[in-house]
Amino acid sequence: MADPLPNTIRVDVGGLMADTLGGGYGVSEDALERLRPRIDAAREAVQSSRGEGWLGWMALPYQPAPLIDEIEEAAGEIRSRFDAFVLLGIGGSALGPICVHEALHPLRYNELPKDKRGGPRVYFEDNIDPERMSALRAVVDFDDACFNVITKSGGTAETMSQYLYVRGALSKNPGWRGQVIATTSGVKGLLLDIARLEGFRTFVIPEGVGGRFSELSPVGLLAAAVGGADIRELLRGARDMDARCAASGLWENPALLEAALMYIACMQMGRNIQVMMPYADSLRLVADWFVQLWAESLGKRVDRAGAVVNAGQTPVKALGVTDQHSQLQLYSEGPFDKVVTMIKVESFNEDTPIPAAPENYPEDIRFLGGLTHGRLIEAERFGTEYALTQAKRMNQTIILPRVNEYTLGQLLYFFEMATAYMGELLNIDAFNQPGVEASKIATYAKLGHPAERYEVARAELAAAPKRGARYII
Ligand code: PA5
Repeated sequence: MADPLPNTIRVDVGGLMADTLGGGYGVSEDALERLRPRIDAAREAVQSSRGEGWLGWMALPYQPAPLIDEIEEAAGEIRSRFDAFVLLGIGGSALGPICVHEALHPLRYNELPKDKRGGPRVYFEDNIDPERMSALRAVVDFDDACFNVITKSGGTAETMSQYLYVRGALSKNPGWRGQVIATTSGVKGLLLDIARLEGFRTFVIPEGVGGRFSELSPVGLLAAAVGGADIRELLRGARDMDARCAASGLWENPALLEAALMYIACMQMGRNIQVMMPYADSLRLVADWFVQLWAESLGKRVDRAGAVVNAGQTPVKALGVTDQHSQLQLYSEGPFDKVVTMIKVESFNEDTPIPAAPENYPEDIRFLGGLTHGRLIEAERFGTEYALTQAKRMNQTIILPRVNEYTLGQLLYFFEMATAYMGELLNIDAFNQPGVEASKIATYAKLGHPAERYEVARAELAAAPKRGARYII
């Protein structure tokens, strides 16, 4: 019988459960039952406020058709007019677009000839390494490039310093303003002011959509459409996952179950680390995106009542099978402090048959002939799952029938919903990031930012005892 839901992603949590691992190593049904009132309350809290406040991202799968038309139209123009598309952004304003691009396009996309790409080469500049912009300039003709400047707050130093660099390089051309697209808040912020001043084309990041939850807004949709992805399918995937993640039955609601299991694993069983390990190069950067989402949302000093909780589960990125030869030894024999989450692709978009080896080759090499790399990678993932389970290590597998816009939309939205539910269970604010402020303020104070609001920090820095460096010689 044909699979009734051929493109639906599934999560196999068997390797997290006590009845699979035995010996008290997994989550018991009893532990889940005991948490049940709080699980139900978490679901109710998120679902009853959907779309409100910082849950504004829950409305993104349902964005109005005219906005999607406008994004596609802008992308079409960029695809036909420019040789390169460069995204300037950092954190939540870059990681989503990067991971979606990598997932949906051939791995060596920029190196393909133009007729095979069908659109511009695509670059994501999410760091301010001083060597980076000149490296970009060495391969991109800035006069033939479109620059998408993305910052929700509008004033992020990294992004805006890159913008100024690009502006400096472009502004001799009378038409340079047509090469810049600003994606930012529609209400306030310095980039919005600049966009109005310069007359840039602008896309709005809706209020209530924080950076790390913004992939399905114009932040991610424009870049995806520029690469030729079907953004309607991405949103359809998110909508279908949204419906599943609203269900009241715990075993029918993948994100709620995921949050409940991770909460028990982390808070009751000391599994303070979650390793995200896709077995597909195309999903490698989904792990990067997840790491930011899980870390910045859930790593909090205080709960909503102000009590110090130092909450969070440390996300770690890994890649199957590459990191089997790097990290797996630790995961199967080191401390019992981890959950390993594998992502499995059932059917790769391309597969490479492994030709038969000559008869006079050793048996162990001849054995590989006739397999495909798709079969080999899945066999290795299975081997890891088996070995971890035998070693009583908590593990789970997220299964994508294939990697496409629809399954990716489901996957990203699943993680966002799991994060929101986990935030509820932890009783923390999953949508702020106060822990990164201190470093920002110190940076500006060190650079001598003249604004009054940095006065205290400037004085503190000047008065602070010199931090003595101690070198290992
Ligand atoms: O998730 C977040 O809110 C952050 O990671 C931001 O995306 C990041 O700090 C960049 O902020 P902005 O988009 O305001 O430049």
